[in-house]
Amino acid sequence: MIEIVEMNANHVPQVAELEKMCFHDPWSEASVASELGNPLSLWLVAADGEKVVGYVGSQTVIDMTDMMNIAVHPDFRRRGVAKMLVERLVDALKDRQSRCLMLEVRASNTGAQLLYEILGFVQVGIRKNYYRNPKEDALILRKEWEI
Ligand SMILES: CC(C)(COP(=O)(O)OP(=O)(O)OC[C@H]1O[C@@H](n2cnc3c(N)ncnc32)[C@H](O)[C@@H]1OP(=O)(O)O)[C@@H](O)C(=O)NCCC(=O)NCCS
Repeated sequence: MIEIVEMNANHVPQVAELEKMCFHDPWSEASVASELGNPLSLWLVAADGEKVVGYVGSQTVIDMTDMMNIAVHPDFRRRGVAKMLVERLVDALKDRQSRCLMLEVRASNTGAQLLYEILGFVQVGIRKNYYRNPKEDALILRKEWEI
């Protein structure tokens, strides 16, 4: 059974492995670990027993949160894991008095865009050539809620 829990030190190596597997420009293990000590950060993992099958990372400044990354292991995709991660993140952010969640997504990443649309995000802007490797525009998406 997959459970959503707050990331702890034991999860960090597997989160860093997933970063490498899923992104061209991955966070290092040390960078992921440093988030544990950051009071502004909240990272959640989807755990199937000891195995980390997905994660979402965020940072909140006052009442605005930036979703920095989200990934699900290829063997566990299209089972609602990412949806569950974001829904749990939003619940946790409400408790922390955040009022909105922003993210950037590659213009070509239509699968992730569909996920965000289902979750109630709307496009609020575009950042030209935001991504490297390969170079690509980012769509800026935002979801707001009342607290
Ligand atoms: C994007 C990603 C996190 C989605 O994870 P996931 O656990 O498979 O997503 P979910 O199962 O929660 O998807 C929920 C819904 O979103 C939509 N969706 C998600 N991924 C999709 C895809 N690749 N293609 C089309 N629709 C997709 C579907 O409507 C899906 O519901 P359905 O499976 O019943 O049709 C995953 O594909 C991933 O890790 N990709 C690589 C990293 C990445 O691109 N991260 C996003 C960076 S902004």
